[in-house]
Amino acid sequence: MSGNKLLLGIDLGTSHTAIMSNRGAKGLVRSVVGYPKDVIGLKLLGRPYVVGNEAYDLRSYLDLRYPLEDGVLAENGERDIEVARHMLSHVIKMADAKPDDEVYAVIGVPARATGSNKSLLLKMAQEVVHTAMVVSEPFMVAYGLNKLLNAIVVDIGAGTVDLCALKGTVPSPEDQVTLTKAGNYVDERLQNAILERYPDIQMNVNVACAIKEAHSFVGSPSGPVVVDLRAAGKPVSCDVTDALKVACEAPLPDIIESIQTLIQTFQPEYQEMALKNIIVAGGGSRIKGLASYIQNSLRAYGNAEVVCVTDPTYDGCRGALRLAEELPPQYWGQLGEIAG
Ligand SMILES: Nc1ncnc2c1ncn2[C@@H]1O[C@H](COP(=O)(O)OP(=O)(O)OP(=O)(O)O)[C@@H](O)[C@H]1O
Ligand SMILES: [Mg+2]
Repeated sequence: MSGNKLLLGIDLGTSHTAIMSNRGAKGLVRSVVGYPKDVIGLKLLGRPYVVGNEAYDLRSYLDLRYPLEDGVLAENGERDIEVARHMLSHVIKMADAKPDDEVYAVIGVPARATGSNKSLLLKMAQEVVHTAMVVSEPFMVAYGLNKLLNAIVVDIGAGTVDLCALKGTVPSPEDQVTLTKAGNYVDERLQNAILERYPDIQMNVNVACAIKEAHSFVGSPSGPVVVDLRAAGKPVSCDVTDALKVACEAPLPDIIESIQTLIQTFQPEYQEMALKNIIVAGGGSRIKGLASYIQNSLRAYGNAEVVCVTDPTYDGCRGALRLAEELPPQYWGQLGEIAG
């Protein structure tokens, strides 16, 4: 094959997909594909499907399909595979690939995605790129931040929380944990907690998610959180402080327990170092008070140091791109599963 090498880092997430290329392309898109519900919709849309934010905006007359469920490719039938294919080819187009480019893509998947799920993703990727490799999401974050030794990365996404212990080697299955109580779970908990306190309020997960993204916190609140909601069509002010605290803290016991389990997988002389090197990534790392909450919960293990990444939107795909740039594709087989 002739042409130029185009290297891509892709973070295929449940809620958003981020992509960066070695030529400076950078993009973020909602992980959703919309299909017209009927011929009228087809006429309105003027094409068979639409990907990303535009699909979400036109949702009143589209069937929205989400290619990822809880962080892994939905695979309930042929239709799901088509949805994922449409998503992936759209994302790769965002990187401005030229027709004669040789495209190499590193794609992040949840830490413990099943073998069949990874193979499915690779099979699809192969239709749109020359060579593809799937690596675990937290490993890709760690690689980008150069935290490859005696560190623990916790990636709090929408569908999954992915944890990985970094020991200076390619992480093995025992070094990784995937939890399914993540951002989407917080939204559901928040919706229910608000409805418990204000039964007449009109509430759905989108509203709950917007409240969470604007005011999320764990530990002590910095002040009351009061939001304007609607009951019977009329605006009402609601104090959601307690509901927000309960919902945002809901995934934490499992996360803390998993960190404790991973700490113990390090050789004893490295445990203290790992404890001081805990990195929280993903959209959930934006929750106020999160780092100190986790730090305090690990008291019994010693003085932990927990930091949240500075760019949760792109740190994952930046790491994937860095991997693609620094490691020649002939070594990719040692790091993750590859196709091409
Ligand atoms: N300020 C915020 N406070 C709390 N949560 C937030 C905030 N901003 C974004 N989130 C949540 O972060 C999640 C999205 O994070 P991210 O983009 O890392 O997920 P993803 O990669 O799409 O999902 P996954 O990794 O599970 O496939 C969503 O649940 C979103 O609501
Ligand atoms: Mg993610």
